[in-house]
Amino acid sequence: MCGIVGYVGYDKAAPLLLKGLEKLEYRGYDSAGIAVCNENAIQVTKSKGRLKILSDLTKEGQTLPGNIGIGHTRWATHGVPSVINAHPHLSELKKFAVVHNGIIENYIPIKEKLLKAGKKFVSDTDTEVIAQLAEFYYDGNFFETIKKVLSTLEGSYALAILCDDYPDEIIVAKKNNPLIIGVGVNENFVSSDITAVVSRTKNIIRLNDGELAVIKANDIKIYDSNYNEIKRDPFVVDWDICTSEKCGYDHFMLKEIMEQPLAVKNTIGPRIQNGKIVLDDINFTKEELNNINKISIVGCGSAYHVGCVAKYIFESLLRNPTEVEISSEFRYKNPLIDKNTLVIAISQSGETADTLAAVKEAKKLGAKVLSIVNVVGSSIAAESDSVLYTWAGPEISVATTKAYSTQLTIIYLLAIYMAEKLSKITASEYEFYISEIQNLPVQIEKVLSHKDVVKDLAQKFYNAKNVFFIGRNIDYAVALEGALKAKEISYIHSEAYAAGELKHGPISLIEDGSLVVTLATKEDLFEKMISNIREVKARGAVVILITNERPEDINEVSDFNIFIPKVCEIMRPSLAVVPLQIFSYYIALLKDCDIDKPRNLAKSVTVE
Ligand code: G6P
Repeated sequence: MCGIVGYVGYDKAAPLLLKGLEKLEYRGYDSAGIAVCNENAIQVTKSKGRLKILSDLTKEGQTLPGNIGIGHTRWATHGVPSVINAHPHLSELKKFAVVHNGIIENYIPIKEKLLKAGKKFVSDTDTEVIAQLAEFYYDGNFFETIKKVLSTLEGSYALAILCDDYPDEIIVAKKNNPLIIGVGVNENFVSSDITAVVSRTKNIIRLNDGELAVIKANDIKIYDSNYNEIKRDPFVVDWDICTSEKCGYDHFMLKEIMEQPLAVKNTIGPRIQNGKIVLDDINFTKEELNNINKISIVGCGSAYHVGCVAKYIFESLLRNPTEVEISSEFRYKNPLIDKNTLVIAISQSGETADTLAAVKEAKKLGAKVLSIVNVVGSSIAAESDSVLYTWAGPEISVATTKAYSTQLTIIYLLAIYMAEKLSKITASEYEFYISEIQNLPVQIEKVLSHKDVVKDLAQKFYNAKNVFFIGRNIDYAVALEGALKAKEISYIHSEAYAAGELKHGPISLIEDGSLVVTLATKEDLFEKMISNIREVKARGAVVILITNERPEDINEVSDFNIFIPKVCEIMRPSLAVVPLQIFSYYIALLKDCDIDKPRNLAKSVTVE
């Protein structure tokens, strides 16, 4: 949510800032801006709308001189998207420029105090108070002034700040929002995300909460929360450029859909050794596992939907009560958890504010927290007792696909691992599950190889006004994700229902031509699903069926069928979800939607 970039070096800053912002646009895209400092004067250019407008306005940055600058792409929280509210924000006398991710909770009293002191504000944002406060406190010492500013602020922030008296340094600070430093040769970068700097440097330093850094072209000084200088060596990221580029695909979403077999393979790879699941990162003893009397899963959006799948798996394999809760609900409900509850937090970004708060709440109540996270070193990972990383690589498209699939993969690994440790499955069942999970990438590949069948269906139905997704048991959990994809990417009103619940209300919405996507991958419930299909068809619905069963009379039941390979029951969501992702993708394409950056959404939601 919102992206920050900064550059200090000997090249022209503005074109580099724009290039960095391009990579961050998926984090927020309602306005953008850059500030450069040249000969002791700060110059700011901002625009409403997509980054392209800012790029055209500045002739790709060429019109702005200066070798130091900061940039921002915004997802509005305080104040509507507009040029005035876009970052960077300047202090009244243009001495300071600030870009900020996060929320300053006490900005109103600070603003009131500064207004009384005669400062004039121009925007509706919380961020502007940071620039104004810096100017108010300024005594000629940039570093000391920012220390004083930070001690006044409450809330969360990743900050990059310029001061016109210091035209060779950027000061950055972090609290509950991600911030990294890209270490180059005769140049350094800052950003909210590694993807923005990786084309220039793979040497990265991650800042921790409470830390501050002073960054020059040839020098980086990092300070801890007590402002003692600390040393931290950069780590090297092994991404190639293709990891964060479209590389021949029209959209990141399609690229990421197609990357799923590899992402799943990478997630499994190091965790199966000599036919055994090795989860070194968690190391629970049998006794600790035995003491777990409840599993409680938290997440938002698609991550929550992974939790819905996980509930069925944990309850069937472990026979352990499992709850799944939307993080924003969990955090305020005084959850019934204790030291014998295993809380599993699922998050691609590892920064989602509600999930982070849920983790903190769970820890406060004494529960053990295990997180499933994609971004190494993220806030949720840092807060958790143990972390199982998904190795999906950077996910750029706002709508998640490969992260969802790798999260499912971790759930399978964890459930099988725990079931074996707790003797809930036999040795031969354990062996069977391991061979099935190792085979999963190939099976996903097979589903992807039939993507044109789904593309043709998208062509038939892209004008649909409503879509219903139905399923039973684990298929219902996948239906939830199908409906979310249809909403967020293709802007189709869609609902997911447990198929048995249809007749308790939703079926009254079915009329001639209503589109119903049904999932039926469980043998024991197949006949029940066929009855549900007959019920909606009798009311005029058109039915697409996703299944692994092939009874002879199937064409008399549904209108269109998508067949997926038969894998073991718990892993079927990994195959069933793929046609749903492809369906939404092609509908969005035909409707000319902005697929990678759907309206009003952001990839990483770091505000409540
Ligand atoms: C946003 C994204 C969703 C994502 C959710 C949770 O709403 O648009 O795709 O599932 O956040 O994000 P997380 O990073 O915690 O998985």
